[in-house]
Amino acid sequence: MKIDKQLLQKYNVPVPRYTSYPPANHFNSDFKEEDFRALLVKSNTEDPSNIAFYVHIPFCAQICHYCGCNALKMGRADEIRNYIAAVKEELALMVRTIDPKRKISQIHYGGGTPNAIKASYLKEINDIIFQSFELIEDAEIAIECNPAHLTYAYLDELFDAGFNRFSFGIQDFDENVLKDVNRKPSSLPVEDLVSFVKNANPKFAVNLDFIYGLPGQTVSSFCKSIEKAIEIRPDRLVTFSYAHVPWFKEHQKILVQKGLPTADDKLDMFLAAYDLLLKAGYVSIGLDHYALPEDELCQALNKHQLHRNFQGYCTKRTTGQVYAVGVSSISQLSGGYVQNTKSVKAYIETVNNGLFPVEKGVLVTDEQKIIRTVINELMCNKYIAWDKVADSFAMDVISLKKLIAYDEDILKPFQADGLIHFTAHHLEITELGTMFIRNIVASFDPALADSNKRYSNSM
Ligand SMILES: C[S@@+](CC[C@H](N)C(=O)[O-])C[C@H]1O[C@@H](n2cnc3c(N)ncnc32)[C@H](O)[C@@H]1O
Ligand code: SF4
Repeated sequence: MKIDKQLLQKYNVPVPRYTSYPPANHFNSDFKEEDFRALLVKSNTEDPSNIAFYVHIPFCAQICHYCGCNALKMGRADEIRNYIAAVKEELALMVRTIDPKRKISQIHYGGGTPNAIKASYLKEINDIIFQSFELIEDAEIAIECNPAHLTYAYLDELFDAGFNRFSFGIQDFDENVLKDVNRKPSSLPVEDLVSFVKNANPKFAVNLDFIYGLPGQTVSSFCKSIEKAIEIRPDRLVTFSYAHVPWFKEHQKILVQKGLPTADDKLDMFLAAYDLLLKAGYVSIGLDHYALPEDELCQALNKHQLHRNFQGYCTKRTTGQVYAVGVSSISQLSGGYVQNTKSVKAYIETVNNGLFPVEKGVLVTDEQKIIRTVINELMCNKYIAWDKVADSFAMDVISLKKLIAYDEDILKPFQADGLIHFTAHHLEITELGTMFIRNIVASFDPALADSNKRYSNSM
């Protein structure tokens, strides 16, 4: 893919990431524990009826200097034990509010490093969930792993605990790049770890995470890592753009001294990886995710059935309202978003008092639900048929377009730049338009014009 640098400058303006709608900076601390309880009860009567659980394990053996996640340096064994006891307590509290007739479509463990703790803890949490609800067919039970701490015995324990999707954080195969960011390489050859998972069950799926924009990376060095990944042939692969937010993550400041690649270099790394992966038969999902054509995500993309949440892409079949446990985790329910406290101490104390450790949240109005659907359809499927969306909310197309401030005069410049094709009936985002997808969907966000919130630039 070729991109005109002038086009990049033109669209490099502040816009939300739209991982949630309303965006995360609308979450507010006026949202209280009792509001969350009411939201949980209401979620039982809302769509989708499937349940997804997110479990946050914040601990890591060491903190990578680039890390932007809610991660904490590993504590003592008793601290981990107390944390897991609190997670199980919070889960039990939550399970009591959820209709037991509903089914689970997804469980996702993120962090931090979920595989930094004993696998028996993960099994204990999964068992509470499995004993409380039935699963849909082929439910996704996923875990993010740092391969520096993986052994075959540990993977066997994960299989036994019910996991069937494994995401390995590679970031880069170049050990010098990893060393510079305070990260250890995989303990075992990554190709052997992937084969081990696939041999255990061909239906198990593996994802590899990479980051571009780290000190020491060049276009050719990053291409070498991607070429190696292509040889390993995981089902899915992600190339994250390094998000540099030192005002928020102090430890990232050290990377500036090591010398970060320029914005131009970063773009070239992204584009080179994109071309390599597409040439190797991968299909581009969203902006930075890739999947093999036989993967369920690609089939869903072809049928305009992709969906996503804070944990990444999924299909409408496996989409559930997300019930999140653990510090800093965010529940994503039809009627609102609620984030837990980030402090482990406050988390354990609150849960042990029988309360949900709510830090902030936001309710989603009926109008915002419609706007959220429009934004999600475009962000995931890059296509929207206005009558289909209007039908799903039992409204007419004219009212729908009025609600999202649809304006052809705003869309025409995107069309002229080759980013979209549109008619009165539908709108489609082109391959080039995918690079500017946040700018395009922002034009259907009526709240953005009168917002006083600040966002990062789109590029
Ligand atoms: C919770 S970590 C994955 C599991 C495990 N902790 C690990 O590092 O392998 C989630 C992913 O977020 C990505 N990530 C972390 N910090 C980032 C940053 N500042 N910018 C972009 N991606 C980042 C990394 O690719 C990482 O694999
Ligand atoms: S990237 Fe993963 S292992 Fe490194 S600090 Fe962040 S969460 Fe921990």
